[in-house]
Amino acid sequence: MRLARSTTLPELFDAVGDTPVVRLRNLTAAHEAELVVKLEGANPGGSLKDRPASHIIRHAERTGALRPGGTIIESSSGNFGIALAMFGASRGYRVIAVVDPKLTATNRALLRAFGAEIIVVDEQDDSGSYHKTRIFLANQLHRQIAGSFRPDQCFNPLNSEAHLRSTAAELLDQAGPELAAVVCTVSTGGHLGGIARSVKQRAPHVRVIGVDVDGSTVFGGRPHAYLTPGVGLSWTPVNLDDLSLVDEVYKVTDEDAYRACRTLARTEGILAGVSTGAALTVALAAAMRTPAGRRVAVLASDRGERYLNTAFDDEWLRANTLTTECTAAGLRARAGRLTPYSTDPAADCGNYLPQLAEQLDSPTARQPRANAEVGR
Ligand SMILES: Cc1ncc(COP(=O)(O)O)c(C=O)c1O
Repeated sequence: MRLARSTTLPELFDAVGDTPVVRLRNLTAAHEAELVVKLEGANPGGSLKDRPASHIIRHAERTGALRPGGTIIESSSGNFGIALAMFGASRGYRVIAVVDPKLTATNRALLRAFGAEIIVVDEQDDSGSYHKTRIFLANQLHRQIAGSFRPDQCFNPLNSEAHLRSTAAELLDQAGPELAAVVCTVSTGGHLGGIARSVKQRAPHVRVIGVDVDGSTVFGGRPHAYLTPGVGLSWTPVNLDDLSLVDEVYKVTDEDAYRACRTLARTEGILAGVSTGAALTVALAAAMRTPAGRRVAVLASDRGERYLNTAFDDEWLRANTLTTECTAAGLRARAGRLTPYSTDPAADCGNYLPQLAEQLDSPTARQPRANAEVGR
């Protein structure tokens, strides 16, 4: 037997991306558009955040901002921190995740599994969330720790650039000319910003739909507490710097997001996270209003295993006064009643805080042009 010639196999970083897109079989009716889901949980760290994490780390290695034995410091209670912890372990970097009390036991365990150090911030900021206090502390640590690097996901434009180059390019190819609309949730604005820019350059007829959670103020409105993880911010992020690229935006309730995430598992066999539920509710509404022969695409941003003790636990849902109901009919009824928060986000939705990066002493604010032109 002859052995094949030796080849260099990919490393972990190279396994990011090229995630599958599948069509749903049961949630839409025959006269409606096809609903297709890009399974970002297929990334090695289990979420779409592997894309900006790998892109930003590689860029920092190339520019010398991150050197062998260096320390990565980031504000994240979720998937971005997990992605950095994973790549940090693979490359020998120390990783410090600045988190808040909302960190779930599962995410803490994942960060620890990759050897990340965890610092918990317990002071709420002026919006009642922890984002600003977390970012400020991460920036302070960055100044104190020699050889440290701040990916700075909320202010670093390489975040949306990663999605423009990879997620959007893949999705447009996979979904084909039938694509009528793309639905994305928003927190740092990385994937909505990158996908919106790419779609409007390459396929301007495709509608771009943004989804925030009720209580978050990415698109303005009154802040209040919410449970949906992964979605929301108390300002419009710079990665979403051109709201004219977004055709309409929705605010989805916790109830909608949790219900849809469970319904996706029960009716389609896709175990994804709660932010996917938020996006799916809106995507289903769009598909119900779009004729057969067209497609509506939505991202399943992470794997559902992370939510087995929350979204997929009936006791937890009852304790948080959320419904355990998860039928296709219930989800369709809810989607049918959804109305957009805005159909002209550029006019209605700007909640930019131009001084914020500087106020929080963001390292990206200190050298904005270094990254800002890349890929634009
Ligand atoms: C599961 C999940 N969904 C959605 C988002 C929002 O993505 P972005 O930060 O690109 O706006 C995140 C961000 O962390 C996430 O972890």
